[in-house]
Amino acid sequence: MSQKYHIVTYGCQMNVHESEKIAGILQRMGYTETAQNDDADIIVFNTCCIRENAENHAFGNIGALKKLKKQKPELIIAVGGCMTQEKGKTEILKKKFPFIDIMFGALNFEELETLITRKKQEKKKVISIRETAGEIVENVEPYRTSYPNAWVNITYGCNNFCSYCIVPYVRGRERSRKKEHILAEVRSLVQAGYKEITLLGQNVNSYGANGTAGANFAQLLDEVAQIEGDFRLRFMTSHPKDFNEDVVKVMKKHDKICKLVHLPVQSGSNTILSAMNRRYTREKYLQEIQMLRAHIPNAEVTTDIIVGFPGETEEDYLLTEDLVKQVDFASAFTFVYSKRQGTKAATMDGQIPEDIQKDRIMRLVELVNTLTRQKSEKYVGKNVRILCEDYDKKKGLYMGRDEFGRMGYFESETDAVGKFVDLHITKANGISLYGERVKNTEEKE
Ligand code: SAH
Ligand code: SF4
Ligand code: F3S
Repeated sequence: MSQKYHIVTYGCQMNVHESEKIAGILQRMGYTETAQNDDADIIVFNTCCIRENAENHAFGNIGALKKLKKQKPELIIAVGGCMTQEKGKTEILKKKFPFIDIMFGALNFEELETLITRKKQEKKKVISIRETAGEIVENVEPYRTSYPNAWVNITYGCNNFCSYCIVPYVRGRERSRKKEHILAEVRSLVQAGYKEITLLGQNVNSYGANGTAGANFAQLLDEVAQIEGDFRLRFMTSHPKDFNEDVVKVMKKHDKICKLVHLPVQSGSNTILSAMNRRYTREKYLQEIQMLRAHIPNAEVTTDIIVGFPGETEEDYLLTEDLVKQVDFASAFTFVYSKRQGTKAATMDGQIPEDIQKDRIMRLVELVNTLTRQKSEKYVGKNVRILCEDYDKKKGLYMGRDEFGRMGYFESETDAVGKFVDLHITKANGISLYGERVKNTEEKE
Protein backbone atom coordinates (compact mmCIF):
# COMPACT_ATOMS: atom_id res chain seq x y z
CA MET A 1 0.00 0.00 0.00
CA SER A 2 1.28 3.42 -0.89
CA GLN A 3 2.25 5.96 1.71
CA LYS A 4 -0.05 8.93 2.16
CA TYR A 5 0.42 12.68 2.41
CA HIS A 6 -1.72 15.44 3.83
CA ILE A 7 -0.99 19.11 3.10
CA VAL A 8 -2.33 21.96 5.23
CA THR A 9 -2.21 25.32 3.46
CA TYR A 10 -2.51 28.85 4.82
CA GLY A 11 -2.32 32.20 3.06
CA CYS A 12 -2.74 33.52 -0.44
CA GLN A 13 -3.43 31.95 -3.80
CA MET A 14 0.27 31.78 -4.41
CA ASN A 15 0.66 29.47 -1.43
CA VAL A 16 -2.35 27.43 -2.51
CA HIS A 17 -0.67 26.92 -5.86
CA GLU A 18 2.66 26.12 -4.24
CA SER A 19 0.91 23.42 -2.26
CA GLU A 20 -0.13 21.95 -5.62
CA LYS A 21 3.54 21.88 -6.55
CA ILE A 22 4.44 20.26 -3.23
CA ALA A 23 1.70 17.69 -3.92
CA GLY A 24 3.29 17.14 -7.34
CA ILE A 25 6.65 16.38 -5.70
CA LEU A 26 5.05 13.97 -3.21
CA GLN A 27 2.99 12.23 -5.90
CA ARG A 28 6.11 11.62 -7.97
CA MET A 29 7.74 10.12 -4.88
CA GLY A 30 4.89 7.61 -4.77
CA TYR A 31 2.76 9.17 -2.04
CA THR A 32 -1.01 9.43 -2.49
CA GLU A 33 -3.29 12.06 -1.03
CA THR A 34 -5.37 11.76 2.12
CA ALA A 35 -7.72 14.36 3.51
CA GLN A 36 -6.98 13.50 7.16
CA ASN A 37 -4.02 13.69 9.48
CA ASP A 38 -4.74 10.30 11.07
CA ASP A 39 -3.76 8.04 8.21
CA ALA A 40 -1.02 10.25 6.74
CA ASP A 41 2.63 9.17 6.63
CA ILE A 42 3.74 12.72 5.97
CA ILE A 43 1.98 15.95 6.93
CA VAL A 44 3.17 19.18 5.32
CA PHE A 45 2.25 22.63 6.64
CA ASN A 46 2.56 25.33 4.00
CA THR A 47 2.46 28.40 6.22
CA CYS A 48 1.71 32.12 5.89
CA CYS A 49 2.93 35.01 8.04
CA ILE A 50 1.13 37.99 6.50
CA ARG A 51 -0.76 38.67 9.75
CA GLU A 52 -0.33 37.41 13.28
CA ASN A 53 -3.51 35.33 13.17
CA ALA A 54 -2.22 33.42 10.13
CA GLU A 55 0.76 32.37 12.24
CA ASN A 56 -1.39 31.53 15.24
CA HIS A 57 -3.52 29.23 13.12
CA ALA A 58 -0.47 27.29 12.02
CA PHE A 59 0.94 27.18 15.54
CA GLY A 60 -2.34 25.77 16.84
CA ASN A 61 -2.57 23.09 14.18
CA ILE A 62 1.06 22.03 14.41
CA GLY A 63 0.79 21.84 18.21
CA ALA A 64 -2.28 19.62 17.92
CA LEU A 65 -0.15 16.92 16.27
CA LYS A 66 1.97 16.22 19.33
CA LYS A 67 -0.12 13.23 20.40
CA LEU A 68 -0.35 11.72 16.94
CA LYS A 69 3.41 11.95 16.50
CA LYS A 70 3.91 10.19 19.84
CA GLN A 71 1.61 7.35 18.81
CA LYS A 72 3.18 7.13 15.38
CA PRO A 73 6.85 8.14 15.56
CA GLU A 74 7.49 7.25 11.91
CA LEU A 75 5.07 10.00 10.81
CA ILE A 76 7.01 12.83 9.12
CA ILE A 77 5.94 16.36 10.01
CA ALA A 78 7.29 19.02 7.65
CA VAL A 79 6.79 22.77 8.03
CA GLY A 80 7.48 25.13 5.14
CA GLY A 81 6.13 28.24 3.46
CA CYS A 82 6.51 31.89 4.40
CA MET A 83 6.65 31.57 8.18
CA THR A 84 9.85 29.53 8.25
CA GLN A 85 11.46 32.22 6.07
CA GLU A 86 11.09 34.77 8.89
CA LYS A 87 14.24 35.64 10.77
CA GLY A 88 14.62 33.46 13.88
CA LYS A 89 11.36 31.58 13.29
CA THR A 90 12.89 28.13 12.83
CA GLU A 91 14.49 28.46 16.30
CA ILE A 92 11.12 29.33 17.82
CA LEU A 93 9.44 26.43 16.01
CA LYS A 94 12.18 24.05 17.13
CA LYS A 95 11.65 25.03 20.75
CA LYS A 96 7.87 25.04 20.66
CA PHE A 97 7.45 21.89 18.59
CA PRO A 98 10.51 19.64 18.96
CA PHE A 99 8.66 16.89 17.11
CA ILE A 100 8.85 18.68 13.73
CA ASP A 101 11.01 16.55 11.41
CA ILE A 102 11.64 18.86 8.48
CA MET A 103 11.70 22.63 8.09
CA PHE A 104 12.03 24.21 4.68
CA GLY A 105 11.09 27.59 3.24
CA ALA A 106 9.04 29.20 0.50
CA LEU A 107 12.28 29.77 -1.39
CA ASN A 108 13.36 26.12 -1.53
CA PHE A 109 10.22 23.96 -1.44
CA GLU A 110 11.47 22.38 -4.66
CA GLU A 111 14.07 20.54 -2.53
CA LEU A 112 11.44 18.72 -0.49
CA GLU A 113 12.18 15.30 -1.99
CA THR A 114 15.86 15.57 -1.09
CA LEU A 115 14.95 16.72 2.42
CA ILE A 116 12.58 13.79 2.96
CA THR A 117 15.21 11.34 1.73
CA ARG A 118 17.76 12.93 4.07
CA LYS A 119 15.37 12.70 6.98
CA LYS A 120 14.77 9.00 6.35
CA GLN A 121 18.51 8.31 6.15
CA GLU A 122 19.80 10.48 8.97
CA LYS A 123 16.91 10.03 11.41
CA LYS A 124 17.48 13.53 12.77
CA LYS A 125 15.74 16.84 12.25
CA VAL A 126 16.40 18.39 8.82
CA ILE A 127 16.36 22.18 8.54
CA SER A 128 17.04 23.81 5.20
CA ILE A 129 16.18 27.46 4.58
CA ARG A 130 17.45 29.71 1.79
CA GLU A 131 17.90 33.33 2.70
CA THR A 132 17.82 34.71 -0.82
CA ALA A 133 15.90 33.45 -3.80
CA GLY A 134 17.71 31.46 -6.45
CA GLU A 135 16.94 31.07 -10.13
CA ILE A 136 13.32 30.26 -10.94
CA VAL A 137 12.80 26.49 -10.93
CA GLU A 138 10.68 25.57 -13.96
CA ASN A 139 10.37 21.82 -13.76
CA VAL A 140 8.13 21.26 -10.74
CA GLU A 141 4.92 19.92 -12.23
CA PRO A 142 1.97 20.78 -9.92
CA TYR A 143 -0.63 18.21 -8.98
CA ARG A 144 -3.68 20.37 -9.59
CA THR A 145 -6.82 19.82 -7.57
CA SER A 146 -8.80 22.87 -8.59
CA TYR A 147 -10.27 21.92 -11.98
CA PRO A 148 -11.66 23.84 -13.89
CA ASN A 149 -9.48 26.60 -12.47
CA ALA A 150 -5.73 26.71 -12.84
CA TRP A 151 -3.18 29.11 -11.40
CA VAL A 152 -0.07 30.12 -13.25
CA ASN A 153 2.79 32.05 -11.66
CA ILE A 154 4.14 34.96 -13.65
CA THR A 155 6.26 36.63 -10.97
CA TYR A 156 7.70 35.56 -7.63
CA GLY A 157 8.74 37.80 -4.75
CA CYS A 158 8.17 41.50 -4.33
CA ASN A 159 10.28 44.67 -4.49
CA ASN A 160 7.75 47.13 -3.17
CA PHE A 161 8.38 47.14 0.56
CA CYS A 162 5.01 48.51 1.59
CA SER A 163 5.91 49.50 5.14
CA TYR A 164 3.47 47.07 6.83
CA CYS A 165 4.24 44.06 4.71
CA ILE A 166 6.47 41.07 5.36
CA VAL A 167 6.25 39.53 1.88
CA PRO A 168 9.43 41.17 0.47
CA TYR A 169 11.38 39.80 3.46
CA VAL A 170 10.15 36.24 3.19
CA ARG A 171 9.68 35.92 -0.56
CA GLY A 172 12.78 37.76 -1.74
CA ARG A 173 13.26 40.05 -4.72
CA GLU A 174 10.87 40.05 -7.63
CA ARG A 175 11.59 37.56 -10.39
CA SER A 176 9.59 37.22 -13.63
CA ARG A 177 9.12 33.93 -15.41
CA LYS A 178 10.07 33.92 -19.06
CA LYS A 179 7.15 34.61 -21.37
CA GLU A 180 7.69 31.37 -23.33
CA HIS A 181 7.37 29.28 -20.18
CA ILE A 182 4.12 31.00 -19.23
CA LEU A 183 2.62 30.66 -22.71
CA ALA A 184 3.59 26.99 -22.88
CA GLU A 185 2.01 26.29 -19.49
CA VAL A 186 -1.26 28.05 -20.35
CA ARG A 187 -1.44 26.29 -23.73
CA SER A 188 -1.08 22.89 -22.13
CA LEU A 189 -3.64 23.73 -19.44
CA VAL A 190 -6.19 24.83 -22.03
CA GLN A 191 -5.50 21.68 -24.04
CA ALA A 192 -6.05 19.63 -20.89
CA GLY A 193 -9.49 21.23 -20.54
CA TYR A 194 -8.97 23.90 -17.89
CA LYS A 195 -11.52 26.69 -18.30
CA GLU A 196 -10.17 29.46 -16.12
CA ILE A 197 -6.56 30.56 -15.95
CA THR A 198 -5.37 33.03 -13.32
CA LEU A 199 -2.00 34.68 -13.73
CA LEU A 200 -0.40 35.19 -10.32
CA GLY A 201 2.06 37.73 -8.97
CA GLN A 202 2.33 40.08 -5.98
CA ASN A 203 2.31 42.95 -8.45
CA VAL A 204 1.51 41.60 -11.90
CA ASN A 205 1.94 45.05 -13.44
CA SER A 206 5.67 44.99 -12.86
CA TYR A 207 6.01 41.71 -14.79
CA GLY A 208 9.12 41.85 -16.96
CA ALA A 209 10.49 44.94 -15.23
CA ASN A 210 14.05 43.63 -15.33
CA GLY A 211 13.83 43.31 -19.12
CA THR A 212 14.66 39.62 -19.41
CA ALA A 213 11.18 38.04 -19.40
CA GLY A 214 10.46 38.85 -23.05
CA ALA A 215 7.45 41.12 -22.49
CA ASN A 216 5.84 43.60 -20.14
CA PHE A 217 2.54 42.72 -18.45
CA ALA A 218 0.24 44.21 -21.11
CA GLN A 219 2.13 42.34 -23.85
CA LEU A 220 2.09 39.11 -21.89
CA LEU A 221 -1.64 39.37 -21.21
CA ASP A 222 -2.29 40.09 -24.89
CA GLU A 223 -0.38 36.98 -25.96
CA VAL A 224 -1.94 34.70 -23.35
CA ALA A 225 -5.42 35.89 -24.40
CA GLN A 226 -4.61 34.95 -28.01
CA ILE A 227 -4.22 31.30 -27.10
CA GLU A 228 -7.05 29.43 -28.77
CA GLY A 229 -9.66 27.59 -26.76
CA ASP A 230 -12.71 28.16 -24.65
CA PHE A 231 -11.33 29.58 -21.42
CA ARG A 232 -11.37 32.76 -19.42
CA LEU A 233 -8.43 34.64 -18.11
CA ARG A 234 -7.83 36.47 -14.82
CA PHE A 235 -4.82 38.06 -13.20
CA MET A 236 -3.93 39.22 -9.71
CA THR A 237 -2.75 41.27 -7.93
CA SER A 238 -2.61 44.65 -9.66
CA HIS A 239 -0.74 47.44 -7.91
CA PRO A 240 -2.20 50.95 -8.33
CA LYS A 241 1.25 52.46 -8.66
CA ASP A 242 1.87 50.46 -11.87
CA PHE A 243 -1.62 49.67 -13.22
CA ASN A 244 -2.00 51.39 -16.59
CA GLU A 245 -4.05 52.09 -19.70
CA ASP A 246 -2.14 49.60 -21.86
CA VAL A 247 -3.39 46.78 -19.63
CA VAL A 248 -6.95 48.12 -19.78
CA LYS A 249 -6.82 48.28 -23.59
CA VAL A 250 -5.72 44.64 -23.72
CA MET A 251 -8.56 43.72 -21.33
CA LYS A 252 -11.00 45.46 -23.63
CA LYS A 253 -9.62 43.79 -26.76
CA HIS A 254 -10.21 40.20 -25.60
CA ASP A 255 -13.55 38.66 -24.58
CA LYS A 256 -11.60 35.97 -22.77
CA ILE A 257 -10.25 38.38 -20.18
CA CYS A 258 -12.56 38.86 -17.19
CA LYS A 259 -13.46 42.51 -16.79
CA LEU A 260 -12.40 42.49 -13.17
CA VAL A 261 -9.38 44.10 -11.58
CA HIS A 262 -8.22 43.30 -8.07
CA LEU A 263 -6.65 46.63 -7.17
CA PRO A 264 -5.81 46.88 -3.47
CA VAL A 265 -6.19 50.46 -2.26
CA GLN A 266 -5.26 49.81 1.42
CA SER A 267 -6.39 53.29 2.55
CA GLY A 268 -8.30 56.33 1.33
CA SER A 269 -6.03 58.80 3.09
CA ASN A 270 -2.96 60.25 1.40
CA THR A 271 -1.16 60.61 4.74
CA ILE A 272 -1.59 56.91 5.43
CA LEU A 273 -0.84 55.84 1.84
CA SER A 274 2.42 57.74 2.07
CA ALA A 275 3.31 56.18 5.45
CA MET A 276 2.49 52.79 3.94
CA ASN A 277 4.95 53.51 1.12
CA ARG A 278 2.31 52.66 -1.47
CA ARG A 279 3.57 55.31 -3.88
CA TYR A 280 0.20 56.51 -5.23
CA THR A 281 -2.37 58.97 -3.98
CA ARG A 282 -6.10 58.70 -3.45
CA GLU A 283 -6.53 60.95 -6.50
CA LYS A 284 -4.37 58.73 -8.72
CA TYR A 285 -6.31 55.68 -7.57
CA LEU A 286 -9.65 57.30 -8.38
CA GLN A 287 -8.33 58.40 -11.78
CA GLU A 288 -7.37 54.82 -12.57
CA ILE A 289 -10.87 53.63 -11.72
CA GLN A 290 -12.28 56.33 -13.98
CA MET A 291 -9.89 55.39 -16.79
CA LEU A 292 -10.86 51.71 -16.45
CA ARG A 293 -14.58 52.47 -16.58
CA ALA A 294 -14.16 54.91 -19.46
CA HIS A 295 -12.76 52.06 -21.57
CA ILE A 296 -14.86 49.25 -20.08
CA PRO A 297 -18.09 50.62 -18.57
CA ASN A 298 -19.13 47.33 -16.93
CA ALA A 299 -15.70 46.69 -15.38
CA GLU A 300 -15.68 45.74 -11.72
CA VAL A 301 -13.02 46.36 -9.11
CA THR A 302 -12.23 44.44 -5.93
CA THR A 303 -9.80 45.63 -3.31
CA ASP A 304 -7.91 45.07 -0.06
CA ILE A 305 -8.13 47.55 2.80
CA ILE A 306 -6.17 47.83 6.05
CA VAL A 307 -7.56 49.74 9.04
CA GLY A 308 -5.71 50.75 12.18
CA PHE A 309 -2.35 51.40 10.52
CA PRO A 310 0.01 53.40 12.81
CA GLY A 311 -1.01 57.05 12.90
CA GLU A 312 -4.46 56.48 11.35
CA THR A 313 -6.83 59.12 12.75
CA GLU A 314 -10.63 58.99 12.65
CA GLU A 315 -10.43 61.47 9.73
CA ASP A 316 -8.08 59.15 7.84
CA TYR A 317 -10.42 56.25 8.48
CA LEU A 318 -13.43 58.26 7.26
CA LEU A 319 -11.54 59.03 4.05
CA THR A 320 -11.30 55.26 3.49
CA GLU A 321 -15.07 54.90 4.03
CA ASP A 322 -15.63 57.76 1.61
CA LEU A 323 -13.43 56.16 -1.05
CA VAL A 324 -15.23 52.84 -0.65
CA LYS A 325 -18.54 54.60 -1.34
CA GLN A 326 -17.13 56.47 -4.32
CA VAL A 327 -15.54 53.50 -6.07
CA ASP A 328 -18.42 51.06 -5.58
CA PHE A 329 -16.23 47.95 -5.28
CA ALA A 330 -17.66 44.57 -6.26
CA SER A 331 -16.16 43.31 -3.01
CA ALA A 332 -13.40 44.18 -0.57
CA PHE A 333 -11.14 42.19 1.71
CA THR A 334 -10.76 44.11 4.94
CA PHE A 335 -7.95 43.62 7.46
CA VAL A 336 -6.91 44.98 10.81
CA TYR A 337 -3.30 46.13 10.66
CA SER A 338 -1.04 43.48 12.15
CA LYS A 339 2.44 44.38 13.33
CA ARG A 340 5.11 42.33 11.55
CA GLN A 341 8.55 42.18 13.06
CA GLY A 342 11.24 43.60 10.81
CA THR A 343 8.93 45.82 8.77
CA LYS A 344 9.21 49.59 8.86
CA ALA A 345 5.72 50.13 10.26
CA ALA A 346 6.45 47.91 13.28
CA THR A 347 8.58 50.66 14.82
CA MET A 348 6.42 53.61 13.77
CA ASP A 349 4.91 55.94 16.37
CA GLY A 350 1.16 56.02 16.81
CA GLN A 351 0.36 52.29 16.96
CA ILE A 352 -3.42 52.12 17.27
CA PRO A 353 -5.04 50.49 20.32
CA GLU A 354 -6.95 47.28 19.69
CA ASP A 355 -10.36 48.67 20.67
CA ILE A 356 -10.12 51.44 18.07
CA GLN A 357 -8.91 48.98 15.43
CA LYS A 358 -11.85 46.69 16.24
CA ASP A 359 -14.34 49.53 16.09
CA ARG A 360 -13.06 50.63 12.67
CA ILE A 361 -13.00 47.15 11.15
CA MET A 362 -16.57 46.53 12.32
CA ARG A 363 -17.79 49.75 10.76
CA LEU A 364 -15.95 49.07 7.53
CA VAL A 365 -17.16 45.48 7.24
CA GLU A 366 -20.72 46.69 7.78
CA LEU A 367 -20.33 49.29 5.02
CA VAL A 368 -18.71 46.87 2.58
CA ASN A 369 -21.37 44.22 3.24
CA THR A 370 -24.18 46.69 2.67
CA LEU A 371 -22.68 47.86 -0.60
CA THR A 372 -21.96 44.37 -1.96
CA ARG A 373 -25.46 43.24 -0.95
CA GLN A 374 -26.99 46.15 -2.83
CA LYS A 375 -24.86 45.29 -5.82
CA SER A 376 -25.89 41.65 -5.76
CA GLU A 377 -29.57 42.55 -5.56
CA LYS A 378 -29.28 44.35 -8.88
CA TYR A 379 -28.59 40.98 -10.48
CA VAL A 380 -32.02 39.57 -9.67
CA GLY A 381 -33.95 39.12 -12.91
CA LYS A 382 -30.83 39.23 -15.05
CA ASN A 383 -28.91 36.48 -16.82
CA VAL A 384 -25.37 35.73 -15.75
CA ARG A 385 -22.82 33.38 -17.29
CA ILE A 386 -20.96 31.37 -14.72
CA LEU A 387 -18.25 28.76 -14.86
CA CYS A 388 -19.38 25.84 -12.73
CA GLU A 389 -16.63 24.91 -10.25
CA ASP A 390 -18.11 22.48 -7.81
CA TYR A 391 -21.09 20.70 -6.32
CA ASP A 392 -21.98 22.06 -2.88
CA LYS A 393 -23.08 19.00 -0.93
CA LYS A 394 -24.53 20.99 1.97
CA LYS A 395 -26.70 23.12 -0.26
CA GLY A 396 -27.36 20.34 -2.75
CA LEU A 397 -26.60 22.82 -5.53
CA TYR A 398 -23.94 23.32 -8.15
CA MET A 399 -21.81 26.41 -7.70
CA GLY A 400 -19.77 28.61 -9.98
CA ARG A 401 -18.56 32.15 -10.51
CA ASP A 402 -19.29 34.86 -12.99
CA GLU A 403 -16.44 36.81 -14.52
CA PHE A 404 -16.54 39.24 -11.59
CA GLY A 405 -16.03 36.47 -9.07
CA ARG A 406 -19.61 36.50 -7.79
CA MET A 407 -20.87 33.08 -6.73
CA GLY A 408 -23.90 31.60 -8.44
CA TYR A 409 -25.79 28.51 -7.21
CA PHE A 410 -28.14 26.37 -9.27
CA GLU A 411 -29.75 22.97 -9.62
CA SER A 412 -28.67 20.60 -12.32
CA GLU A 413 -29.56 17.02 -13.14
CA THR A 414 -26.32 16.45 -14.99
CA ASP A 415 -22.78 17.10 -13.79
CA ALA A 416 -22.11 20.73 -14.64
CA VAL A 417 -18.56 21.08 -13.24
CA GLY A 418 -16.24 22.63 -15.81
CA LYS A 419 -19.07 23.98 -17.94
CA PHE A 420 -20.06 27.54 -18.72
CA VAL A 421 -23.70 27.86 -17.73
CA ASP A 422 -26.16 30.72 -18.20
CA LEU A 423 -28.22 31.40 -15.11
CA HIS A 424 -31.38 33.46 -14.71
CA ILE A 425 -30.90 35.01 -11.27
CA THR A 426 -33.92 34.64 -9.01
CA LYS A 427 -32.46 35.50 -5.62
CA ALA A 428 -29.49 37.28 -4.08
CA ASN A 429 -28.18 36.53 -0.63
CA GLY A 430 -25.19 38.63 0.43
CA ILE A 431 -22.57 38.05 -2.21
CA SER A 432 -24.16 34.83 -3.43
CA LEU A 433 -26.62 34.63 -6.30
CA TYR A 434 -29.18 31.87 -6.87
CA GLY A 435 -30.57 31.11 -10.26
CA GLU A 436 -32.12 28.74 -12.73
CA ARG A 437 -30.36 27.40 -15.72
CA VAL A 438 -31.55 29.24 -18.79
CA LYS A 439 -33.44 26.80 -21.00
CA ASN A 440 -32.74 26.37 -24.70
CA THR A 441 -29.25 27.78 -24.45
CA GLU A 442 -26.58 25.60 -25.81
CA GLU A 443 -24.35 24.28 -23.08
CA LYS A 444 -20.74 25.11 -23.81
CA GLU A 445 -18.37 22.24 -23.12
N1 SAH B 1 0.74 41.88 -3.27
C1 SAH B 1 -0.59 42.16 -2.99
C2 SAH B 1 -1.16 41.38 -1.82
C3 SAH B 1 -0.33 41.18 -0.61
S1 SAH B 1 -1.00 40.38 0.78
C4 SAH B 1 -0.71 43.67 -2.85
O1 SAH B 1 0.22 44.38 -3.00
O2 SAH B 1 -1.78 44.14 -2.64
C5 SAH B 1 -2.72 40.67 0.72
C6 SAH B 1 -3.23 41.78 1.57
O3 SAH B 1 -2.92 41.57 2.92
C7 SAH B 1 -2.65 43.13 1.26
O4 SAH B 1 -3.21 43.72 0.15
C8 SAH B 1 -2.95 43.88 2.53
O5 SAH B 1 -4.21 44.48 2.49
C9 SAH B 1 -2.96 42.80 3.59
N2 SAH B 1 -1.80 42.91 4.49
C10 SAH B 1 -0.50 42.78 4.17
N3 SAH B 1 0.26 42.97 5.27
C11 SAH B 1 -0.58 43.23 6.30
C12 SAH B 1 -0.40 43.52 7.69
N4 SAH B 1 0.81 43.61 8.23
N5 SAH B 1 -1.50 43.73 8.44
C13 SAH B 1 -2.74 43.65 7.91
N6 SAH B 1 -2.96 43.38 6.62
C14 SAH B 1 -1.90 43.18 5.80
FE1 SF4 C 1 3.33 43.39 0.27
FE2 SF4 C 1 3.22 45.71 -0.96
FE3 SF4 C 1 4.55 43.68 -2.06
FE4 SF4 C 1 1.91 43.63 -1.93
S1 SF4 C 1 3.13 45.09 -3.08
S2 SF4 C 1 3.30 41.97 -1.42
S3 SF4 C 1 1.47 44.62 -0.02
S4 SF4 C 1 5.07 44.75 -0.18
FE1 F3S D 1 1.09 34.67 0.63
FE2 F3S D 1 1.08 34.72 3.25
FE3 F3S D 1 3.29 34.28 2.01
S1 F3S D 1 -0.10 36.00 1.92
S2 F3S D 1 3.14 35.28 0.04
S3 F3S D 1 1.49 33.00 1.99
S4 F3S D 1 3.05 35.53 3.79
